[in-house]
Amino acid sequence: MTRHFLSLSDAGGDTIAAMLNDAIDRKAARKDWPKARPDADAPLAGHVLAMIFEKNSTRTRVSFDMAMRQLGGSALIMEAGSTQLGRGETVADTARVLSRMVDAIMIRTDDHAKIEELAHYAEVPVINGLTDLSHPCQIVADLLTVVERGFALPGLQVAWLGDGNNVANSLIEAAGQMKFTVRIGGPAGYEPNAGFIEQARAAGAEVILTQDPAEAVKGAQVVVTDTWVSMGQPGGEKHVAAMQPYQVNAALMAQADPRAMFLHCLPAHREEEVTNEVIDGPQSAVWDEAENRLHSQKSVLLWALGKL
Ligand code: CP
Ligand code: NVA
Repeated sequence: MTRHFLSLSDAGGDTIAAMLNDAIDRKAARKDWPKARPDADAPLAGHVLAMIFEKNSTRTRVSFDMAMRQLGGSALIMEAGSTQLGRGETVADTARVLSRMVDAIMIRTDDHAKIEELAHYAEVPVINGLTDLSHPCQIVADLLTVVERGFALPGLQVAWLGDGNNVANSLIEAAGQMKFTVRIGGPAGYEPNAGFIEQARAAGAEVILTQDPAEAVKGAQVVVTDTWVSMGQPGGEKHVAAMQPYQVNAALMAQADPRAMFLHCLPAHREEEVTNEVIDGPQSAVWDEAENRLHSQKSVLLWALGKL
């Protein structure tokens, strides 16, 4: 069976735990330079990852490329606009052709149905590098950052503030898999996907929706936010006004657990969803979180290619 990674549940909780352990071990075994030196075992030597981008990216692009180099393989970037996909070649035909030439495909796209179609027709693993629905690779990096700081996942209390977007959906999915609690603080009409909430609750996780930002962060060990307007989504002044009470600032952080860490997948819109004081402050783990995209994605790639 081809191992696609479209969502965290494609891997499952035990595999995610194994990915985190593998990422911790590989990270510890590396010196931080030279950055592209392959890991001693070079487990993906000779392997190539094709990366299709239909939306902008800094972290996902660089971390997947560097992950492949460190695993002994390589990556090639396909900006959708300069490929035949951008001129109307079908997703199915693209999947068939790439499967003959590369070992795995990562795609960042808008409509989640497109990645499902790609996976359906691909004979090599397809990895979700963000869709409008979810961003599972980001959450593996976030979990790694949390574990690295000494927090155990089962029983953890996580607060999400602001827009119930793709990253929030994957965080909720992770809550179900790794058995932690998520409290979502955001305005009415911007709730995360109902299917993800139901699935996490059915798996035994507590998922609480509130419009009170203080209730969301109370006692939380992890406070997370993201842009108020995701790529390709409509924004506007009314939207920003509705989000304002959910800004993560020092006053809100003070209501969380005193040991609470702050996470943001980045890019940040400083002084909108988070103040400079918080993102640049002692509780912020955002730079470790960004670096951990690299380490955690190595584990995702190894699992998808049957090496983990
Ligand atoms: N967090 C994240 O996915 O960043 P990029 O959009 O830069 O890839
Ligand atoms: N929610 C954001 C995440 C960017 C990495 C977006 O989709 O634009």
